Amino acid sequence: MASRIAVGIAGTGSYVPERVVKNAFFERLVDTSDEWIVQRTGIEERRFAADDQATSDLALEASKRALEAAGVKPEELDLIVLGTLTPDYLLPSTACLVQDRLGATHAGAFDVNAACTGFLTALHTGEAFIAAGRARRVLVIGAEKLTSFVDFTDRSSCVIFGDAAGAAVLTPLDECGQGEILRTTLGADGKGYDFIHMPGGGSRKPPTQETLEKREHFIRMRGRDVFRFAVTYMGEMVREMTEGYSPDEIALVVPHQVNKRIIEAALERLDIPPEKVVVNIEKYGNSSAATVPLALDEAVRAGRIEKGKLVVLVAFGAGLTWGGTLIRW
Ligand code: COA
Repeated sequence: MASRIAVGIAGTGSYVPERVVKNAFFERLVDTSDEWIVQRTGIEERRFAADDQATSDLALEASKRALEAAGVKPEELDLIVLGTLTPDYLLPSTACLVQDRLGATHAGAFDVNAACTGFLTALHTGEAFIAAGRARRVLVIGAEKLTSFVDFTDRSSCVIFGDAAGAAVLTPLDECGQGEILRTTLGADGKGYDFIHMPGGGSRKPPTQETLEKREHFIRMRGRDVFRFAVTYMGEMVREMTEGYSPDEIALVVPHQVNKRIIEAALERLDIPPEKVVVNIEKYGNSSAATVPLALDEAVRAGRIEKGKLVVLVAFGAGLTWGGTLIRW
């Protein structure tokens, strides 16, 4: 077997829509309060995309910023992999729309649907292509316009979601000289498919008047079950990714921004100090596949990651799915 090519992260980028929506907005829609939302989730505000913006529009902006940071031109890309659960269309893929609008004329493009684990699934796919010598420059994206699929009559789910996008450009490590991807892992357990799902609109229940009336084309969530699953798997992923390394080497943990209480509960058990954990859920809520690349990009741009130190990415979500990545920055 040919030897594996080491892969690095050449640049990151992110984008959030301009419209800021405070918790008070939901007090007018459902029986809730700013106090409940802040206490139970840590969220103070989130971004809503404009009516004329779709997932590909958010993805495009994040991608341009990642390409600029990486110093890579769109036509140099070999592949685009986009993680989303809120594609512009069921057909074709959102990655193809981004490919066209970027002018990535030599790139293949496809979407992956692993819900909140979408960015890590895209990242691991891109890493594998480069490691195997099948591509040299890969754009990986996590992007969501969740507000198109949120049921604004369901108080337990509508308050937590926001819209955003994040991206990263991967190249062989000898080309970019930073962000070496050391470990990756992905897992799934479809027995929990209905913890978070959209019952209608797919091939099992194509859209009908009845599915619309029953609001089955919106996200349904068993929040308490997700909470338990998330605390367990976030902890497990961090432990698996950092095994064999000393805690001093770890610069940052970038977890999926699902709920501040979930992040705190999981990381408390691992004895990771709060200053090493990236939390921005108070500003953006849960933007599913976009949370990890958005938080990573903010940390990179804020200079929070010292070169040579370790960064751990962890995510989990509908499927059920989960994943972890270890990077030497
Ligand atoms: N405002 C006020 N009360 C609310 C509320 C809201 N927005 N949402 C739920 N409640 C109520 C519930 O109805 C329940 O009332 P009851 O005791 O009278 O039945 C009570 O608050 C407690 O509900 P519970 O579901 O136990 O709350 P929680 O502390 O688990 O918080 C979530 C709910 C949804 C915030 C939390 O479970 C969570 O973050 N889960 C994971 C999120 C998720 O699924 N993300 C998507 C995939 S990553």
